[in-house]
Amino acid sequence: MCGIVGILGQTEVAPRLVDALKRLEYRGYDSAGVAVLIDGKLERRREEGKLRNLDAALERLPLAGTSGIGHTRWATHGGPSTRNAHPHVAGRVAVVHNGIIENYLELRAEIETFGAVPESDTDTEMVAHLVNRQLELGKTPREAVAEVLPRLHGAFALAFLFAGEEDLLIGARKGSPLAVGHGDGEMFFGSDAIALSPFTDRITYLEEGDWAVLTRSSVEIFDAANAPVTRAESRSSVTAALMDKGNYRHFMAKEIHEQPEVLGHTLSRYIDFGARKAAVPGIEHAGFDKINRLIISACGTAYIAGLVAKYWFEKYARLPVEIDVASEFRYRETPVSDGEFALFISQSGETADTLASLRYCKENGARIGAVVNVPESTIAREADVVFQTIAGPEIGVASTKAFTCQLAVLAVLAVQAGRIRGTLSAEQEASLIGALTEVPGYAVQALKREVDVERLSQSLAKASNALYLGRGTNFPLALEGALKLKELSYIHAEGYAAGELKHGPIALIDENMPVFVIAPHDSIYAKTVSNMQEVAARGGRIVLITDAKGAAESGDTAGNVVVMPDVPEIVAPIIYALPVQMISYHTAVFMGTDVDQPRNLAKSVTVE
Ligand code: AGP
Repeated sequence: MCGIVGILGQTEVAPRLVDALKRLEYRGYDSAGVAVLIDGKLERRREEGKLRNLDAALERLPLAGTSGIGHTRWATHGGPSTRNAHPHVAGRVAVVHNGIIENYLELRAEIETFGAVPESDTDTEMVAHLVNRQLELGKTPREAVAEVLPRLHGAFALAFLFAGEEDLLIGARKGSPLAVGHGDGEMFFGSDAIALSPFTDRITYLEEGDWAVLTRSSVEIFDAANAPVTRAESRSSVTAALMDKGNYRHFMAKEIHEQPEVLGHTLSRYIDFGARKAAVPGIEHAGFDKINRLIISACGTAYIAGLVAKYWFEKYARLPVEIDVASEFRYRETPVSDGEFALFISQSGETADTLASLRYCKENGARIGAVVNVPESTIAREADVVFQTIAGPEIGVASTKAFTCQLAVLAVLAVQAGRIRGTLSAEQEASLIGALTEVPGYAVQALKREVDVERLSQSLAKASNALYLGRGTNFPLALEGALKLKELSYIHAEGYAAGELKHGPIALIDENMPVFVIAPHDSIYAKTVSNMQEVAARGGRIVLITDAKGAAESGDTAGNVVVMPDVPEIVAPIIYALPVQMISYHTAVFMGTDVDQPRNLAKSVTVE
């Protein structure tokens, strides 16, 4: 999960490379670097840490030139350091890479046979040496790249720059995304359209195994067998403006507050408001009337959305759900039969484990559905049907608006599956869809609790551990609350089914352990209240997230109560995600962690 960019430009390239890398930093930020051509010679600047360090280095020592490549890194092989920062150079070849070359040790042994001495611990540097070796043997740059690519095992998006070749970039993709940007007398490579949004909205996505040769006036694309191919050029919807924080301090804050709007956009894509019916385009591909179970797989927050959906599909469509995190699912050899339907949830549409699980199910004859936020992504392109979330680009590494939009899509899908399977009457569907129609308004009300949340987050900031509890669809939300705290404020937190507390975790309870209880006043509220009293009896500090009725009935059991609007049961997971997000956001802000780019994380995990 790194970000790569290449520019054959008409103006000074270094600042433009940095501008593009700023839009890719969400993919990784352990180090950053650029390589440019000055009078045909390769010149580099590389810095450990955030992109601002590279920016400062270029301020101190500017680089001229109009052709260049750039990289922002999430370390895989070799720790975060200047030495391991990309671009890597060997002789006449500079290269930037997103992915993992799995046979790099074999390649490292080989380059040493022809006297090359690696200067870094990275897999990427081996690629530069191999291509340079081919140049030394008399190959042209494109012949050299064509010779080396088949030797690379694993996943990669690569961009090459060659000494003495001012009007040439070569790029390749296998397992990691790479886009070509078409400019006026300029040409670009980028990990995604977001990186290229300041320069162009004319985008061509390379397909799996493709490689491309760019000049300022031409694009040649070849498939894995080196046959020339044509790939469609499309207009990217991402504008540079979308990439701006506006008046918010962080992208995460902006994206939390965009939720009423983007939930409205997403729901209107899948609901016939007039008829108060679900109207999901392409749902027939799922075969809900024929299947005996639904397979769901995803990672992280997207997996948690799938956990909520399990409750919905089983309750409203009486459809058993087999769900697992993709990193486990892909190796479990789960029996999958012809004609089954498997649903993959992913904001980026590029998560390696999720993609591998998709391919496993496809190879075993399942039809594939994808709930993604990026319609041009690899997962979207390999699915039989895509149910897109209309959340807009999500830049904050912690997923917020994408998560609630995933829930919105999954809720409508489950309701329509219920109709198709005859387990929901028209009246029941109308009632559920009517509730979902109100989600944007409920979200506006929930966001008004931010002041209460900010205040309690300051006390939380001193904790080193925390527990989240919930029942039913609030149990996955407890997992999400714990994940958000971990990834944003680095506080160790666990999410538990409230009923499980007495089977062990209650031993953790003391006055130093904040316990968040997610409990709308629903059919199982009383059960959760008794768990809360068990915590209170042992001195636990309780934060209850509930509605007015729940607050009234909780008495003085909870030290803090965050009161949500009264919402129908199907809407609760979407709306109760908002205080969970705000708690983690304000705790992180108070603690001074890097909210949009938390340490060790990246937005799109395109490696195993
Ligand atoms: C969410 O806050 C995390 N950043 C992470 O768990 C994320 O949800 C996970 O990596 C899956 O990403 P995807 O939705 O792009 O597949």
